[in-house]
Amino acid sequence: MWTPKLEHFHGPRYIAIADAIAESIAQGDLNDGDRLPTHRALADTLGVTVGTITRAYAEAERRGLVTARVGRGSFVTTPHAQGQRFMIQGEIEPDCVDLQLNLPIAHDRADALSQSMQELASDTVKMNRILGYQPDIGMPEHREAAAEWLGLTGLRTSADKLMITGGGQNAIMLTLMALTRSGDIILSEAITYPGFMAVTHQLGLRPQPVAMDEEGVIPSAFEDACKQFSPRVLYCTPSLQNPTNAIMSEARREAVAEIARRYHVWIIEDSVNANLLENAPPPLAEIAPDKVIYINSASKTLAAGIRVGWVVAPDEIHSQISNALRASQWMTSPLIAEICTRWIKSGLANQLLEEQKRELILRNQLMTEYLGAFNCRINPYSLHAWLELPEPWRSREFIQQAQRRNVKVIGEDNFIVAQYRAPQAIRLSSSSAWSQNHLERGLKILAELLHQEPEPSLSVF
Ligand SMILES: Cc1ncc(COP(=O)(O)O)c(C=O)c1O
Repeated sequence: MWTPKLEHFHGPRYIAIADAIAESIAQGDLNDGDRLPTHRALADTLGVTVGTITRAYAEAERRGLVTARVGRGSFVTTPHAQGQRFMIQGEIEPDCVDLQLNLPIAHDRADALSQSMQELASDTVKMNRILGYQPDIGMPEHREAAAEWLGLTGLRTSADKLMITGGGQNAIMLTLMALTRSGDIILSEAITYPGFMAVTHQLGLRPQPVAMDEEGVIPSAFEDACKQFSPRVLYCTPSLQNPTNAIMSEARREAVAEIARRYHVWIIEDSVNANLLENAPPPLAEIAPDKVIYINSASKTLAAGIRVGWVVAPDEIHSQISNALRASQWMTSPLIAEICTRWIKSGLANQLLEEQKRELILRNQLMTEYLGAFNCRINPYSLHAWLELPEPWRSREFIQQAQRRNVKVIGEDNFIVAQYRAPQAIRLSSSSAWSQNHLERGLKILAELLHQEPEPSLSVF
């Protein structure tokens, strides 16, 4: 009978068992079609409850490593045998550590969703209400709950200022649709979230980079860009910037807000990571509520598939954004907003957020252990780290060589605005590793690689 040795795996037992399944597949000890021990047998052998084995097999199934067949048991299904099944993380490769995407850490949330759906299913009055058209900006009770939830990031707002969108990405799109016209110049941090650039491309905008440091946008560079381009909008992420982890201090936020006022520039404050940060400075939207459009979403804290985001906008442009919302989708699905509201009101959202933070602290400790000696920006609450590569490494070579060792990361070229000359760097998303063990395996390989010289390229003659 397959019996995992769990001593060298950290974290909850069910995760350790799922990790052990992945390791056994990678080492060839488990093969496609192998039958795993019954829940009862493995529970007895390992001295854990049957429930733990059920969760472990469910976790392995989520990773695409196991298939449960009713009445017959659980069988190993290697992804290669399944044939290129695609998940958001990419192809499932049990022997590969994929650190490419910023995701909320994939704890098992199926029970939470199932419970809220069951509660909703027994509330026919509510179900009939949410099946109808709603105000474009969202149902009042959904907006009230969201306004309260955003208070976690230091934002004091009310339901009438807030709109419900289909996620943060949708919120950026709607805001830029409302504020800009094709051909407009738009400013952003020089190294920024690629989804923002996708929107600028789609809307025919011309993004211009503003130089940044470990506090994000540099005020003098912002002012120079205002003088040179007379832009209408600055997009920035003041708390846990993606990808550099920059955090704007309060003084920096005040300086940036003051320049925006002086040059009549709207600021889009992307706060999708702000809920994770402890003791964050006040949001820009608190410092300059008349100039800032604040964006947040459920993706990085609750679940990316929830697809709920929020925009809080000054009165002057509120209706322009809600017009964009109505023109493009009439309203965000009230069904999913209702689920999200139930999670907020029941305290579950808070519990999930705290779980996420605890796990991030441990993952970022591993980051520090393995990469702390390098020029790597790590924050205990961040979903990712930003590593500037030591000479003579180029990011393209580093990524290739890491991939040959089965670790996937992405380089600075994904994040550069226009022709900005960024340092050679990679982003490592600890949040997309399946577990701490899995992450540690990848970090060990990356740290070893960093201590070596790049292998000479044989592909160029
Ligand atoms: C900075 C930033 N803003 C917005 C988003 C989009 O989030 P959502 O999934 O809510 O659309 C992301 C997702 O990675 C992000 O990193």
